[in-house]
Amino acid sequence: MLPPAGQSLNCSRDFFHTTESFFCLTFFCLRCCFVHARSCPLRLSLDKLRDVSSRLHKGLVQGLGKHSHHRAAVKMLPTFVRATPDGTEKGDFLALDLGGTNFRVLHVRVLQAEQKVVKMDSQICVVPKDMMTGATQQLFDHIASCLGDFIASQELKGQTLPLGFTFSFPCEQKEIDKSILIRWTKGFNCPGVEGRDVVTLLRDAVRRRGDYDIGSVAMVNDTVGTMMSCGYKDQSCEIGMIIGTGTNACYMEEMKNVKRVEGEDGRMCINTEWGGFGDDGSLRDIQTEFDQMVDKTSINPGVHIFEKMISGMYLGEIVRLLLLRLSEEKLLFKGQKSEVLQTPEIFQTKFISEIEEEDTGLDNARRILTQLDLQWDEADVRVVRLVCDTVSSRSARLCAAALATIANKMRLNRGLDRLQTTVGVDGTVYRKHPNFSEELQLTVRLLAPECSITFLVSEDGSGKGAAMVTAVAQRLALQSRLLDDSEEDEEEEEEDEETS
Ligand code: BGC
Repeated sequence: MLPPAGQSLNCSRDFFHTTESFFCLTFFCLRCCFVHARSCPLRLSLDKLRDVSSRLHKGLVQGLGKHSHHRAAVKMLPTFVRATPDGTEKGDFLALDLGGTNFRVLHVRVLQAEQKVVKMDSQICVVPKDMMTGATQQLFDHIASCLGDFIASQELKGQTLPLGFTFSFPCEQKEIDKSILIRWTKGFNCPGVEGRDVVTLLRDAVRRRGDYDIGSVAMVNDTVGTMMSCGYKDQSCEIGMIIGTGTNACYMEEMKNVKRVEGEDGRMCINTEWGGFGDDGSLRDIQTEFDQMVDKTSINPGVHIFEKMISGMYLGEIVRLLLLRLSEEKLLFKGQKSEVLQTPEIFQTKFISEIEEEDTGLDNARRILTQLDLQWDEADVRVVRLVCDTVSSRSARLCAAALATIANKMRLNRGLDRLQTTVGVDGTVYRKHPNFSEELQLTVRLLAPECSITFLVSEDGSGKGAAMVTAVAQRLALQSRLLDDSEEDEEEEEEDEETS
């Protein structure tokens, strides 16, 4: 990845081998300077990240407030998960996972005696792209049909198993089994679902089929599933984070700060929906022209601005737009006007990881540029790698700023000099990019020096974690309820903001 802002760029040593390489190096370094200047707005200094973190902190407090949450960009959604697993959970569960790379159906067994979650079986179902933006009933009938086929193949017909539904979109959870979709994100946009209860839509679809039944349903965000699946192994896991197709985090907040939920004691898991940070314009100064373009051409302009700077659904596009601009400015591909680079989504996010691989990266870049039918030279290959570095590095540093905000808040909440905690993490960007996790962890250490954070990559949080949430939910969930907004009390909004 790029050296931290402020340090100079070192060109690769392998360039010095021949005289020809020497000229190549000089040319490359010259181009690097221009490329560096062009991509400068994408490099965020530590001070800038601190500033972003303090803006996010304000956003978190606003989202938690009883009177301020309506207009908050960071939704801070109560999840009704009041406890991480304690090892007494057990039973058989079905799990659905919608909203990541694939739609999956799973059968999971939680064994109390061995403190183990066993995935019995799972099946991936494709959700065709047109269904992601098509009619509501079509989508939920498809989900019910995949589930029905799976139940039949597992010979579970006739049993009424509880179901954990990992639905990775912002939902206002009224109770553990009542979850109103606030908005679609990522590639989904079926009209008519926003504002409706997803559990009812699922139950209606199952009823329409009429050949199987489901038991109690627990709705789970993927961040929560991730935290819970890691929490089973490491009881100090109190944060869940996803950096995949989308990005988000949840954490255990003090009940006294969760003003929208009855009760003062203990903690509740809050789904921050940090992807929405910036939707109120608070990130305008760090949004580049490329971010603005990605947002403008997305299916949900103006929404999930932070996510669009970070997550796997968008990183490839940011790189493509930057490469296009560099080639228009004759800094790449001999300035050829390439139709390829004008094709949306042609530069996949996985190319970034491949190009940044330490040993094979340059070869991968040559292969990818050839596949894309671009006329490249050796300096182009290195510039493309530099661009990938810049974009992925910004993503890792922004995530680090957001995670540090949460960790710092948890530490202050608890009045600790030092917070020791574990973050359960999942998502293709975090898992697959060669140096993303390292850069993220390094930056968090700089931004939250009083927090010792252990990172635990989740083992199938969306599947096993969903089963775990369902199991814990059966034990605990209905202990609290969301206060009606109409239940006004005397406290003022300012008071919310002061005390969180
Ligand atoms: C959704 C979150 C989800 C995240 C990661 C975002 O687009 O709004 O609910 O947790 O993606 O999948």
